[in-house]
Amino acid sequence: MSLAKQLQVKPSSGASYPIFIGTDILKNFSKLFYKYNSKSKKILFVSNSVISAKYLKSITSSFKKKIPYYFVSIPAGEKNKNLYQVNKILDLLTKENFNRQDTVVALGGGVIGDISGFAASIFKRGISFVQIPTTLLSQVDSSVGGKTGVNNKYGKNLIGTFYQPKFVLIDTLTLKSLPKREMVSGFAEILKYSLIMNKPFFAWLNSHGKNIINRSSSKDIINAIFISCKSKAIIVAKDEKEQGIRAILNFGHTLGHALESHLKYSKKLNHGEAIIIGMRIACKISHQLGFLTSRELDMIKNIYEKLNLTASIKPYVKSNQISQFIEIMKKDKKNNNNYINLILLKQIGKAFIYKTQVEKTYLPILKEEIRNG
Ligand SMILES: NC(=O)c1ccc[n+]([C@@H]2O[C@H](COP(=O)([O-])OP(=O)(O)OC[C@H]3O[C@@H](n4cnc5c(N)ncnc54)[C@H](O)[C@@H]3O)[C@@H](O)[C@H]2O)c1
Repeated sequence: MSLAKQLQVKPSSGASYPIFIGTDILKNFSKLFYKYNSKSKKILFVSNSVISAKYLKSITSSFKKKIPYYFVSIPAGEKNKNLYQVNKILDLLTKENFNRQDTVVALGGGVIGDISGFAASIFKRGISFVQIPTTLLSQVDSSVGGKTGVNNKYGKNLIGTFYQPKFVLIDTLTLKSLPKREMVSGFAEILKYSLIMNKPFFAWLNSHGKNIINRSSSKDIINAIFISCKSKAIIVAKDEKEQGIRAILNFGHTLGHALESHLKYSKKLNHGEAIIIGMRIACKISHQLGFLTSRELDMIKNIYEKLNLTASIKPYVKSNQISQFIEIMKKDKKNNNNYINLILLKQIGKAFIYKTQVEKTYLPILKEEIRNG
């Protein structure tokens, strides 16, 4: 396949799968499908009307011989990452008599990927699954590594499975139609990889980050996606089911998830924007506890400023809501008897797990942040 970079994810459970990254490569879908899903006789595409109108045709027209395919539309938004949408997929699969060799394809961002991966994992105890992520965030993060799931009224991703796809097809052409805000959101997870495990990548992002967010260099975008997927693949190979090291991928996420939940998954703040805030506060805690030097904290502040990453929690949590917000953080699924595995930085490029009580670590900093902005 021309222009495509390829890498292999080797989860510890053994089912290894490839990721293809390139520009204008959706037309290669049928070739990959017959190679990796050779026994599949039909396909269910899960997407939404906006994304499918733009990209589904390039995929389906790549089949020379017609293959039956079906379509389930999931309305956009984190609010719809729920069991109701999962059930819509399960109903269609049952009604059309899909078997385990047939395939569910997620064509969309992280919300569609997480919902359809979850449905695929529980239908007949696991049907073939393929990811075609169409947001920057899903291309660098959610489509890789096999976490699937949905939210309920108690919090984010509380219902889910680990389930790996047969392959992941990343076409950077899909980013052309993405709102700028979603580019910034995806950049949050790219920056995360640099902060937790790759200082040279942090330096590279410092000079190339603008080209990624502004979509002014497809070479830089492909490089950032490749390094991000590779970073995630390294971690998933060591710890697929998050028994240890994989937790560092949650850097910024304890607070980020609580913010999304506190705002009831409103469009006011998307996932990546919440993570941008969560990572900045985690960096500040890392400094206050004496791990991260002032110099490195300043380097992180500089990249935030240079790239206009909006990072204040003040517009989203009022001072009289702090204790309610702390309660949401305590409900995080990584919480155990009020102790939480918080991810902090020793240095740029070196994250570690710090066991602490939510109140003890977060209450003072939240008060300070919400007072001063
Ligand atoms: N499974 C994991 O490991 C993992 C990791 C990180 C994040 N996530 C999850 O991913 C979700 C966030 O994903 P996201 O940021 O992709 O958000 P999203 O799926 O909500 O997509 C963002 C918006 O972009 C639209 N969109 C998608 N592709 C488009 C395109 N090519 N052109 C125009 N519009 C397009 C969507 O319809 C939506 O309105 C969260 O639910 C988060 O929890 C999961």
